[in-house]
Amino acid sequence: MALVQNLFNSVSKRKKSLISYMNPNSVIADQYRTIITNLQFSSIDKSFRSLLFTSPGYGEGKTTTVANVAVSLALQGDKVLLVDGDLRKPSLHELFKLDNDKGLTNVLIGNAVLKETIHHTEIGRLDVLSSGSIPHNPSELIASQAMRDLITALLKQYDYLLIDCPPLLDAVDGKILANECDGVVLIVQNGKTHKEKAAEANRILTSARATLLGIVLNEFK
Ligand SMILES: Nc1ncnc2c1ncn2[C@@H]1O[C@H](COP(=O)(O)OP(=O)(O)O)[C@@H](O)[C@H]1O
Ligand SMILES: [Mg+2]
Repeated sequence: MALVQNLFNSVSKRKKSLISYMNPNSVIADQYRTIITNLQFSSIDKSFRSLLFTSPGYGEGKTTTVANVAVSLALQGDKVLLVDGDLRKPSLHELFKLDNDKGLTNVLIGNAVLKETIHHTEIGRLDVLSSGSIPHNPSELIASQAMRDLITALLKQYDYLLIDCPPLLDAVDGKILANECDGVVLIVQNGKTHKEKAAEANRILTSARATLLGIVLNEFK
C-alpha cells in the first residue's frame, strides 16, 4: 500500500487548489507526482484505470487531491477524465471554473449527451465531467446500470477515469463507486481524521470488495 505524505501548508490560498497546474515545478506538485508513481507501482501487474478518491468525511481533501492527481497525469501525457461523482456537494466545476448546467446526473437520466457535456481543459488531454444538477436520489443514480455502462464506455475513450465522491461515512455513494472502480485511494487528513473514522472507512471499503491502492495523508492547516 502506498503511503504518501503530502505537505501542503505554505501555499497561497489562490494558487493552492490547482497547484499542479499553476506551479508544476513546486515541491507540492512533485508530491502529487509521487502519489501517481506510488499508485503505478502498486498496480504493476494489473491495469487500474478507474480510480475513486474518497475519504471518511468532508473537508479532508478529496476534491483537491483528485484534481491535482488528474492534472499531473494529464501533464504526463495521459488522456484523463475527471468525474464529479459527489452528487451531494459537488465542487469540481468551481475548482475548474466550469458551467455545471449539465453534467453526470443529466447524462445518467438521459437528458444530456455525453459528448456535449464533457468539458475539455487547456491542461493536456484532461477533460472534466461535472456533477450536473443535484438530484433528489443521488445514491440511486450512482448505483444505476446507466452509471456502470457509462464507466465502461468512458474507459474505452480515456486512459484514466478519476472519480470524486461524497465521504464514505456520510452516504453509500462512495461504497457503491468503490465497488465499481478498479482501485480506490483513501485520503485522510493528518491530525484531523479520527483513527476510528479511518478504520470505519477501511471497513466500508473492505465490505465493498474494493481494491485499496493507497492512502494519502493530506496535511494542511
Ligand atoms: N493539501 C492541502 N493544502 C491546503 N489546502 C487544502 C489541502 N487539501 C485541501 N485543502 C483545502 O481544504 C478545503 C477542503 O478540501 P476539499 O478538497 O474540498 O475536501 P473534500 O473534497 O474532502 O471535502 C478546501 O478549501 C481546500 O482548498
Ligand atoms: Mg469534495
